Amino acid sequence: MVGVDYSPKMVAKARERVEDRGWANVDVVRADATRPVVTPESVDAAVATLAISAMPDAREASARLADALRPGGRVGVYDVRPVPNGPWRVCNPVVRLGFRYLANRNPGADVLGALAGDFTGLAVVETHLTGTNFVATARKPA
Ligand SMILES: C[S@@+](CC[C@H](N)C(=O)[O-])C[C@H]1O[C@@H](n2cnc3c(N)ncnc32)[C@H](O)[C@@H]1O
Repeated sequence: MVGVDYSPKMVAKARERVEDRGWANVDVVRADATRPVVTPESVDAAVATLAISAMPDAREASARLADALRPGGRVGVYDVRPVPNGPWRVCNPVVRLGFRYLANRNPGADVLGALAGDFTGLAVVETHLTGTNFVATARKPA
C-alpha cells in the first residue's frame, strides 16, 4: 500500500502513524499527484480523501490516478463540493469560502466531472450535509 501527499509535514505525520501502528505493508511517498507517480506495479485500488479538490488541476489528478491503476482497478473518493441542488444552494457563497479556508479546496475543482472523463461506472454512493460531502466510486475501463 502506498500513501501519496505533496506536503512534507503531511508525509512526516503519515509515516509516524505507519510506524506507531506497525503497518509493515505501507509506504508513504512525497509526490505531486498531478504528475506521473511511479509505483512498483500497477495498482488494484486507490482511495483519495479530501485530496483531488485540494489540487490545482482535478483533471490531471484524475488522469494520473487512472494511469496508476490496472485496467478494471477501482477508485473511491471522499471529497467536498458546493451544495449541488435544492434550496440550500443559496448558501454556496459561504460554503465555498468555508471549503477554501477549512479544506484548502480549489474553487474551480470539479472532481466528479474530472473522474467521469477517466473512469466508468462513476456513482455517488453516499452524501452528507446537503450533498456537500460525497463518496464516489468508479472503475478504470478494463
Ligand atoms: C485537506 S488535506 C487532506 C489530507 C488527507 N488526504 C486526509 O484525508 O486527511 C489535502 C491534502 O492534499 C494534498 N495535496 C494538494 N495538492 C497535492 C498534489 N498536487 N499532490 C499530492 N498531494 C496534494 C495537501 O498536501 C494536503 O495534505
